Amino acid sequence: MVASTMEALVSLCKRRGFIFQSSDIYGGVKGLYDYGPMGVELKNNLKNAWWKSMVYERDDIEGLDAAILSSPMVFKQSGHEDTFTDPLIDCKSCKSRWRADQLQNQTCPNCKSTDLTEPRPFNLMFKTAIGPVDDGKTFAYLRPETCQQIFTNFKNILDSTNKTVPFGIAQIGKAFRNEITPRNFIFRVREFEQMELEFFVEPGSEEVWHKYWVEHRLKWWISQGIDKKNIKLLSVPKEDLSHYSESTIDIMYNFPHGQEELEGIANRTDFDLGSHTKNQKDFSINSNVIKNDKSTTKFGVQKLNDKTWYIPYVIEPSAGVDRGVLALLNEAYKEEKLDKSNSRIVLSLKPHLSPIKAAVIPLKRNNDTLVDISKEIKNNLQSIGLGRVILENSGNIGKNYRRHDEIGTPICITVDFETIENNTITVRDRDSMEQKRISIEELNNYYKNYFN
Ligand code: GAP
Repeated sequence: MVASTMEALVSLCKRRGFIFQSSDIYGGVKGLYDYGPMGVELKNNLKNAWWKSMVYERDDIEGLDAAILSSPMVFKQSGHEDTFTDPLIDCKSCKSRWRADQLQNQTCPNCKSTDLTEPRPFNLMFKTAIGPVDDGKTFAYLRPETCQQIFTNFKNILDSTNKTVPFGIAQIGKAFRNEITPRNFIFRVREFEQMELEFFVEPGSEEVWHKYWVEHRLKWWISQGIDKKNIKLLSVPKEDLSHYSESTIDIMYNFPHGQEELEGIANRTDFDLGSHTKNQKDFSINSNVIKNDKSTTKFGVQKLNDKTWYIPYVIEPSAGVDRGVLALLNEAYKEEKLDKSNSRIVLSLKPHLSPIKAAVIPLKRNNDTLVDISKEIKNNLQSIGLGRVILENSGNIGKNYRRHDEIGTPICITVDFETIENNTITVRDRDSMEQKRISIEELNNYYKNYFN
């Protein structure tokens, strides 16, 4: 069995409709990708699994879907306007641009020149004009992290639900960063999705909750099919912490290009709610907040025992959807030798993540009787609601099996002439390639059991 490489994954993703370079027909834009028919299903399945574990399976977390465009005040108060920068270096010879930490021995990786500019801070946030007049004053930021609108909605959600601290707010959505050097396929891109939870806790309990969420998130990634031996926890050194973080544990994954961050779990202290709250002086805030004289809302809550007011601390597990997709593809990808002259590529995704749950294949293309039975089976399985079921009316069974192995479809169902005689079909298992005949009546249970 051969494991994956980045080249193999990129090729599979294009060939089978998972991921395409964005604006490809015009030469593409670096750091932007489009998810095709299989990619959108895989990504949705991953996001649904996260939402299920965060929101549906708990009673202490609520969901949110906030706007992407944000008032500049949000990112002034969050600290991003002043500190969300990377040090940028220009090569004076070939005019290429680099992040300072990507240069070795102060040499341009492109032309090897040492004639470089001094590093200067480059803010990673994208801006856009709001309204018809672009006077530079009425602009919005495209959020560089999804969580800030969780903080600005803190009081709305407290007032509209019956939650008390400790509780969390979960959100999945797009984030944008003008990365200086996007690279490694969908690992570092300029438009990506995050799955973020902000979990609000009483000061003093933050360490216990931080530990809890690190363990919880680790277990979750393993339950999605990530091999434990490909994961390492990294305690981020003090000098590398984001401006809001007291301590961060990164879940590091062995991506095809090396070990890098899949998710970060940060103790953001009372910095965020403290920086966005009105009347900061009314609270004893522990972190070094950004002075606020514009906010209209107080973000304090009352302690149950002594009724004193405090600003909650935040524990934040923040995962990248795109990095999750890359890690899961990497785990699932296998090249298997079948015999001396044949091999196959198979994507052994966990069934709940597979883009297509089952493919129904009439043995003979356009044979009305076989196609009608296949359609009925497809519609029946589709109505069970476990995800997309597909009718493959393209004839060649062998080709269909190969295609669905590469897409990661757990079950292929073949309808043939015996089906007309005795109401049986063939089910083929993706991983074992085992085929067996069962009756159409048994199929519903077979299918449901497979995904349980
Ligand atoms: N709210 C906290 C936050 O945004 P982060 O470590 O900057 O923290 C969280 O980002 C996660 O978002 C990362 O662990 C990563 O999975 C993903 N991410 C960040 N920048 C990314 C990029 N340029 N491309 C793809 N994913 C990215």
